Amino acid sequence: MAMHGVVKTVFLFALLALRLPCALASSEDQKAIAVAKQNACLGCHASNKKIVGPSFQSVAQKYKKDSNAQSFLKDKIAKGGAGSWGVVPMPANAKLNDADLSLLTSWILRGAPNEN
Ligand code: HEC
Repeated sequence: MAMHGVVKTVFLFALLALRLPCALASSEDQKAIAVAKQNACLGCHASNKKIVGPSFQSVAQKYKKDSNAQSFLKDKIAKGGAGSWGVVPMPANAKLNDADLSLLTSWILRGAPNEN
């Protein structure tokens, strides 16, 4: 029966190890969602449908193969502007600092999980 206990312990550790990255990712998601709410992003964007701006899932899709996407989108979110999705411009978000811009952009490029 001692063997059984060891197997169980190993199994539990394996489960914990697997869950850890998920827990980290979702806390990053929660932080990003809080910043998005504070800055009214979600009034114009949703993860899975177009509102005034494109859905964040379509943004993630569009820039999937673009290695410059992170810096391009950080800059775009800060300065606003039109042209990527149509003629309607996004207003500038001048208050956001670099860390928040990175947080939001990474979350959007992951397809904005957990937004609802
Ligand atoms: C008043 C409505 C509005 C608000 C508020 C808004 N957006 Fe946008 N957003 C838009 C529109 C419209 C576009 C499409 C711009 C274009 O076609 O280039 C857009 C585009 C984007 C894009 C894609 C840019 C590109 O060039 O592909 C990202 C990413 C984005 N918004 C993130 C955000 C974030 C993060 C916030 C909050 C800090 C935010 N938006 C707030 C309307 C808005």
